This record gives sequence, structure tokens and C-alpha cells, in this order.
Amino acid sequence: MDITELILADHREQRRMFALLDEIGDDPERLGPVWHRLAVLLEVHADAEERLFYPRLLAVGSGAGDSAGPTEETKDAIRDHDDIRDALRETGRHPVGSQDWWKAVRAARLANSDHMAEEEREALADFRRHATLAERHELAVEFAVYEAANSAGVPLRDTDPDRYVAGHAG
Ligand SMILES: [Fe+2]
Ligand SMILES: [Fe+2]
Repeated sequence: MDITELILADHREQRRMFALLDEIGDDPERLGPVWHRLAVLLEVHADAEERLFYPRLLAVGSGAGDSAGPTEETKDAIRDHDDIRDALRETGRHPVGSQDWWKAVRAARLANSDHMAEEEREALADFRRHATLAERHELAVEFAVYEAANSAGVPLRDTDPDRYVAGHAG
């Protein structure tokens, strides 16, 4: 197993679930369960990355792509995760299938698409270049176990990017 592959696989599943919403129309009976599943995937994935992946990126990364280094990669990611969490909260304020609900879903999709592209280009590239294969494997197993253990979802809690990076320094 490899954490960078596992994260890519999660991203693919998220894209697939957003595509499934396109196919359903406005029937709340069908949209509701699919959206609930996708929202759980998004929140648990971001939480697992913050608990397991980004601390190790901060420790071993040294930049990739256009990024200034692992600190910037991490702060960007956490800011994006907070945007995604905001959009997830907003969907909960509107009836499933309503115009305002779709607007919030589109905002979540946009924030997540932008975030995945940057994370794949920078944080994952950095980790592939600088973490050992053994660590990539061990982290993948931990990540998969964490996601399985929290498959019902986690509370939506914002993370402060500066405090997060300071808390994982050294
Ligand atoms: Fe991700
Ligand atoms: Fe992420």
C-alpha cells in the first residue's frame, strides 16, 4: 500500500460521487443518501489527512511543483479543507434538492476540485519524492484503518492553518 495512491483513490471516489449527483435529478429521496455518503467521505478524508498525512509531510517534505515548501503546502491544504467544511455545513441549512442546496453542493464541488488538483500537484508530489517507501506503506495502512473506524463520519471542526503548522513544528 502507498498513502499517495490511497489519497488518489479517495479523490477518484469523491469525483465519482459528485458525478453520480449529476445523474439523479432533483429527487430528494435519491439525492439525500448519496449526498450523505459523499459528505462523510469528504469530511473523514480531510480529517485523516490532517491527523496522519500532513504531520508527516511537514516532517519530511521539502517542496514540489510551484510550492514554497511543506509549510505552504500544508497551510494551503488546511485553508481548502476549511472551505470544503464551510460548504458542507451550508448544504445542511437547505432542503435536499432545493436550489440553495444545489448551490452549496456546487460550492463544495468547486472547493474540492481546486483542492484535489493542488494537493495532487504539490503535497503528494513532495511526499513521493521525499518519504521512504516503508513510510508510505505504513501511513497508508494507518490512514485506511482510521477511515474504516470513522466510516459513520466525524464532527466538522475547522482547523487554524497557522496554529496547525506551529503545533507540528520540529
Ligand atoms: Fe485529499
Ligand atoms: Fe486534502
